[in-house]
Amino acid sequence: MDRHAPVPRHVAVVMDGNGRWARQRYMPRFFGHKAGVDALVRAIDLFADRGVEYLTVFAFSSENWKRPADEVSGLMGLVLVAVSKYLGRIAAKGVRIRIIGDRDTMAERLQEAWSLAERSTAHNTRITLTVAFNYGGRWDVVQACRRALADGIDAEGLDEHALGRYTMLGDLPDPDLFIRTGGEMRISNFLLWQVAYAELYFTETLWPDFGAPDIDAALAAYAGRDRRFGGIPPMLAATSSG
Ligand code: IPE
Ligand code: IPE
Ligand code: MG
Repeated sequence: MDRHAPVPRHVAVVMDGNGRWARQRYMPRFFGHKAGVDALVRAIDLFADRGVEYLTVFAFSSENWKRPADEVSGLMGLVLVAVSKYLGRIAAKGVRIRIIGDRDTMAERLQEAWSLAERSTAHNTRITLTVAFNYGGRWDVVQACRRALADGIDAEGLDEHALGRYTMLGDLPDPDLFIRTGGEMRISNFLLWQVAYAELYFTETLWPDFGAPDIDAALAAYAGRDRRFGGIPPMLAATSSG
């Protein structure tokens, strides 16, 4: 891996702060989620323009079912609205869409909407947007183990590489940069396996306000990081005789 790459190939984002953004405006939380969808549509294009190849966003966690029923159903409905409102525009911009998460416990209409988004953008190559929906990092590791076992992989054959291939992003490079908006400094069960060596970036900006200045600040912070992957700084490596 190129440790000097100035632009991350893969960015993962916890899109947090929609509820607070709405509350600041004395509006219901759903208003914030709607604004959050608009922010995502803008962000995809901005990241693609800056050379990011893979953008993976956390839209609904395995734990978000704990929210009040009206918020949960509002979020589910918003997916249907967002797909019908934005899919054409996103597809025309060269975005390939993929969904990761537990599809089996999603309503059929939702599964169909996500499948449509995947099918109609499968040929696109400008940027890959992966939407984590009904996703949890622990669920991901468990489903990877199950699928590996079902494929007949035994204890001997189950190493990090083999199991990694069965995780939901097994065919993509690991995220280089992990961004969380909304000021909380936690992973909240997002890509636990995959963020092993991601650079972490937290911002107070609430997700609906996340725009070009925030993206540029995050990418600038990333460009200034010294990625070592457990090794020694490159300057020392150049002069080290081993
Ligand atoms: C993130 O915003 C969106 C989802 C989790 C679906 P929140 O809804 O968590 O917003 P805050 O954190 O309450 O402000
Ligand atoms: C993480 O945000 C999940 C998404 C952004 C989809 P939460 O708002 O659910 O996380 P916690 O509850 O603050 O940890
Ligand atoms: Mg939140």
